[in-house]
Amino acid sequence: MIQVAPSLLAADFARLGEAVETVNRSEASLIHIDVMDGLFVPNITIGFPIISSIKTIARKPLDVHMMVTDPGRFVSQVRDCGAEIMNVHYEASTHLDRDIHAIKATGMKAGVTLNPATPVGLLEDIITEVDMVLLMSVNPGFGGQKFIANTVSKVARLKQLIVSTGSHAVIEVDGGVDLNTAPALVEAGADVLVAGSYVFRAADPIDAIDRLRHISTH
Ligand code: DX5
Ligand code: ZN
Repeated sequence: MIQVAPSLLAADFARLGEAVETVNRSEASLIHIDVMDGLFVPNITIGFPIISSIKTIARKPLDVHMMVTDPGRFVSQVRDCGAEIMNVHYEASTHLDRDIHAIKATGMKAGVTLNPATPVGLLEDIITEVDMVLLMSVNPGFGGQKFIANTVSKVARLKQLIVSTGSHAVIEVDGGVDLNTAPALVEAGADVLVAGSYVFRAADPIDAIDRLRHISTH
């Protein structure tokens, strides 16, 4: 069954604790946290003190999506926040192999993230080293954007690469995911769906998570 990772970016930050408690009570598999530096992406969001606070009440593993330049600088800080997964952008890391191994050395799972225009073929020489590949289905920086349809074929191409290399990486997709866009992603081979607006703008976020998790591909 598909895993759902609600993105707290779409929550009301004045009620962040309540949003985490809601995710705790749901069938979500992960809590997705978007860290932005105002340089790699044109926005600034959550930082380490907030992630540490979230960790004190979260009962789901934290999936930290680093939208920052040179993310290798922050491996120990992300680990010290109690994150289970650290995702770094291919485009932001000069020494991706070094960063991936530094993340894994802390005991966290290591993910590499691709912007919409970055081809999956560039992962050929790192795919067997990563635990997750996060495909952006919007340009990173903001919630509530329109899903880029090309992501579906990208998921299929990534799945092929994973199978042909014997990689154990799971495929996560982030941006514009809802009940309309999810079925084709699941069909193409996605394992984890990040959803922000779809979950937190729903009248009943727990039910919304449940419905995404039980998505039918036909
Ligand atoms: C965007 C973030 C996403 C964002 C998704 O840069 O990486 O995680 O919260 O939001 P929705 O689901 O609203 O597109
Ligand atoms: Zn994200």
